[in-house]
Amino acid sequence: MNHVFYKGEDSSKPTLLLLHGTGGNEHDLVGLGKEIDAAANILSVRGNVLENGMPRFFKRLAEGVFDLGDLQLRTEELKNFIDEAAVKYEFDRDNVIAVGYSNGANIAGNLLFEYENVLKGAILHHPMVPRRGVELPGMSKTPVFIGAGKNDQMCPAAESVELQDLLQGAGAEVELYWHSYGHQLTQDEVQAAKRWYQSKF
Ligand code: MLT
Repeated sequence: MNHVFYKGEDSSKPTLLLLHGTGGNEHDLVGLGKEIDAAANILSVRGNVLENGMPRFFKRLAEGVFDLGDLQLRTEELKNFIDEAAVKYEFDRDNVIAVGYSNGANIAGNLLFEYENVLKGAILHHPMVPRRGVELPGMSKTPVFIGAGKNDQMCPAAESVELQDLLQGAGAEVELYWHSYGHQLTQDEVQAAKRWYQSKF
């Protein structure tokens, strides 16, 4: 997968896995990652799917309607990519925290839904419920931050609460942070994610 890797100053810190939104690329969230933790490794990836020229992490059938077969394949592809990158760049595979926005948050959420202990934790900005009606792996070791907008048309508030409930049902420790805007990532949401991260890692 197309990506950039920046080695952090402190090897005891996590590796931040940055996953952009639709139409983004591997450079978009590097500033966000450095804001969360300037000393951590950064592994920022570009989604392999193109929708009208816009990179995404998996196909969708319509806005908000995921191609679940492709989601599963692409989630496995991303997991394998993380495994290989850990060997190549010599970071601790067991200390990877995803930071995703929108489509990137959705594939990060699906990593958690599909594979036990695939991430040490996750910051999900404006995620949706990736799949329904499936049994989730245990997540008792996985803290998750969800940033949501009370007026988000793409991810309705009820869906953010549903995702929180599903993750908590699998044992995850979830902080759900609300702002009163829409789908955009706001500075106060980033600061809330940073405080959460600093309290956990
Ligand atoms: C998705 O397809 O992942 C969601 O609709 C969010 C987005 O548009 O990226």
